[in-house]
Amino acid sequence: MTSVASNNSHSKYGIIGTSPELKSVVQTAEKIARNPAITTLIIGESGTGKEVIARLIHNCSSSASQPFVDINCGAIPENLLESELFGYEKGAFTGANARKQGLFELANGGTIFLDEIGTITLSFQAKLLKAVENKRFRRINGLEEINVSPRIVAATNIDLTKAVRQGTFREDLYYRLNVCQIFMPPLRSRSGDALVLATYFIEQFNKEHSRSIKGLDPSATDFVLNYEWPGNVRQLKNTLERAVLVEADEWIEARHLVVDNGPVQATPVQVTPVQPLPAQPIPLQPTPAPVMPTKVTEVNEASNIPSGFERFQIPDEGIPLEEIERNIILSALEKAEGNVSRAARFLRINRGKFRYRLERLNITQRDIYAIKAGFYPAQPEPVDATSGLSLSKSNPLLAGSL
Ligand SMILES: Nc1ncnc2c1ncn2[C@@H]1O[C@H](COP(=O)(O)OP(=O)(O)O)[C@@H](O)[C@H]1O
Ligand SMILES: [Mg+2]
Repeated sequence: MTSVASNNSHSKYGIIGTSPELKSVVQTAEKIARNPAITTLIIGESGTGKEVIARLIHNCSSSASQPFVDINCGAIPENLLESELFGYEKGAFTGANARKQGLFELANGGTIFLDEIGTITLSFQAKLLKAVENKRFRRINGLEEINVSPRIVAATNIDLTKAVRQGTFREDLYYRLNVCQIFMPPLRSRSGDALVLATYFIEQFNKEHSRSIKGLDPSATDFVLNYEWPGNVRQLKNTLERAVLVEADEWIEARHLVVDNGPVQATPVQVTPVQPLPAQPIPLQPTPAPVMPTKVTEVNEASNIPSGFERFQIPDEGIPLEEIERNIILSALEKAEGNVSRAARFLRINRGKFRYRLERLNITQRDIYAIKAGFYPAQPEPVDATSGLSLSKSNPLLAGSL
């Protein structure tokens, strides 16, 4: 269970997450914040928190008390974008009954955040470049030059270098905006952040909707950590809001996490290597008897399990799934001679997910040392034909004999 009460999220300026990937982004943002003249381009998939980081840069800068002004360039047609950013004089067009200041002016001394910068037209790119380079511009229909110097932070989820190659984005503007670059990694490659964020969001939505959801049950915990989250933090947040509000009663279960394709099936993806958990000198725990696979004659044709894999025979009294998982994990470790990365590769999951399972199944560093030392039986133990349970008493892990 991952209970709300156990939430130990690291929150700095409202940025939740404990992964080294996120911490490194935060550190870079803090450095950038010290220099108001640095233009920053934040790149990353939609929903990864690009705006959150733009606000962080502003909030930890010396101009934090000045305005932070954001505009989604993708949502606005070009002529409107121009009047929004640069403002206009009275009579500039029908309906322009009075002078209006643009966002560049309003952000003066603070920060202007140009979101979805990759969507602006080539002709507007030229106007923007001029304003950014010269630090001055004219309002539409205006004669007077306005001098402004807001910090400029832009963001995009498209590959601007590709757009430059294809001629849809000006190279000079790209270099002007990209003085410093921050890459927001997708949620699936930030070790453990999904879970930390999930508990944080449950807490928030409990408050907001006067609910008292306790947290995520093991199935939901597993899903949150293994699902790809293509919509990143935004998708996780929305999914949890729905779960808290309408799906769950006490604990959120995997079936309460309704993602785009309907109720979820965990679809683990290969992601970048993640932070190893600290090795803990935890006393050896008594472990349940390993369950060994027993051969069955027929093969499950619908299954995509590689050939040669033997299906488990479930005894009449049933088998706890956790024991099976534990046994598979121990077998993988044994095959990998205690090397966690190799063991993870045998099971085709990444090291972070493997580590997570080790922790959940209470397989300790000491267990791994035992396997390295060759204490775990190399061959499957004799199995009781009816129960499917190992008959071995020789496993030092069971006996705690180390
Ligand atoms: N690290 C984080 N901690 C807390 N909330 C986050 C975090 N990252 C993203 N969010 C939330 O997720 C949503 C999407 O973030 P946003 O910055 O708008 O993403 P992007 O600009 O990359 O599309 C917002 O509601 C934001 O508050
Ligand atoms: Mg955004």
